[in-house]
Amino acid sequence: MSNPKTNQSWGGRFTESTDAFVATFTASVDFDRRMYRQDIDGSIAHARMLTRSGVLSDTDCVAIVDGLAAIRREIEHGEFTWSIALEDVHMNIEARLIERIGDAGKRLHTGRSRNDQVATDVRLYLRDAIDTILTEMRRLLGGLAEQALREAATIMPGFTHLQVAQPVTFGHHLLAWFEMVKRDHERLTDCRQRVNVMPLGAAALAGTSYPLDRHYTAQLLGFTAPCANSLDAVSDRDFAIEFTAAAAILMTHLSRMAEELILWSSAQFDFVDLPDRFCTGSSIMPQKKNPDVPELVRGKVGRVNGHLMALLTLMKSQPLAYNKDNQEDKEPLFDTVDTVLGCLRAFADMIPALRPKRDNMRQSAQRGFATATDLADYLVRRGVPFRDAHEIVGKAVRLGVETGRDLAEMALEELRQFSPLIEDDVFEILALEGSVAARAVLGGTAPSQVREAASLAQTWVNQHIHVNQPS
Ligand code: ARG
Repeated sequence: MSNPKTNQSWGGRFTESTDAFVATFTASVDFDRRMYRQDIDGSIAHARMLTRSGVLSDTDCVAIVDGLAAIRREIEHGEFTWSIALEDVHMNIEARLIERIGDAGKRLHTGRSRNDQVATDVRLYLRDAIDTILTEMRRLLGGLAEQALREAATIMPGFTHLQVAQPVTFGHHLLAWFEMVKRDHERLTDCRQRVNVMPLGAAALAGTSYPLDRHYTAQLLGFTAPCANSLDAVSDRDFAIEFTAAAAILMTHLSRMAEELILWSSAQFDFVDLPDRFCTGSSIMPQKKNPDVPELVRGKVGRVNGHLMALLTLMKSQPLAYNKDNQEDKEPLFDTVDTVLGCLRAFADMIPALRPKRDNMRQSAQRGFATATDLADYLVRRGVPFRDAHEIVGKAVRLGVETGRDLAEMALEELRQFSPLIEDDVFEILALEGSVAARAVLGGTAPSQVREAASLAQTWVNQHIHVNQPS
């Protein structure tokens, strides 16, 4: 008989009940209940495996599987009462199972501990989350590739030091974003492989004396393999750190994109129009249309970086094997998942709706002596050493600055005072179109290259649509 004053799952050796504050302080049910589906799936697989191995009877197995399915419905219909006294998602569900089916429910925990159970649940949860994130990422990538194709010949200034450097195409810029997010996709896909390994069977820390078929449980749950070492299985949270690190890099990319959108939608740049539905107004300044969505995304990177630091610190110096510290892995992990999904969703919705103001982009490139390098290259093709060409063009630019004109706006005779090698074909290369078209090297900004790169990007997205779908 268990002591009614203490926790029924582990109260046997206790003589006084848990301090009320300690019960609340140590409980995790408020946040780990979001893993209820994974907990139930894991228990069902464990029960089926125990039955196949002859540890559980068929009758008990049916009762357990049906009981857990009924509990899942209770939870989903909001009819389940979660209890702090029962600590966590695992014991809440198990206690309810015992309430529903009696002794069969008490046999479920054979050859298992909450230590391998929770590690399994977190991995299952994260695997699903990664699949959802990858899907959302591909939606964003698809939108970027499509916009890039449409804007392959749209000229804008390319910047270094946030100063106009050389003309580029807007499509080219969007494809730079594409590459960043594509690497994030690769990182998460790679991380998923280390998430998708199964701790169950490690039990508390040392393995178990029951004849468990861990390969079978792993197969039922879609894991690629059981974890190889029971001590490592219950204590490893590398996969959570790795995921959060990949998420932090992704958030860094999104914040860079966000920053550019914020700059570009300002009156000073006026390069893009963010659709009204992604902006809000000001309660005092009637003229305002604020780029809230990109600003929030830019701000949320801080959260994810913080979670990464929290997880690294959580694991630092932890002795083997399970320690209660590990309960602290969930909130940072869950918030990282929520944050990343929210930000990706906002971007995936917003990017296809983005409308560049092509004339403004073009004029801005025109004003910034963006084709000065083209003039230098022109002189080099006529035999001038590059360093001399650089000097000559620098002088021409100075005249432009003094007289408020771009190089293309000067008369041929004016330009020839800097070098007699300049002839009237120079105006083709001083034109923005000529400048971008000339950069047709692989990976360059020429519309021809951008079109090709954008369709390769689209092919990549289409080829990846069916991978990593939830198993
Ligand atoms: N709620 C716990 C966690 O999140 C479950 C594992 C508890 N195990 C234990 N031995 N106290 O880590």
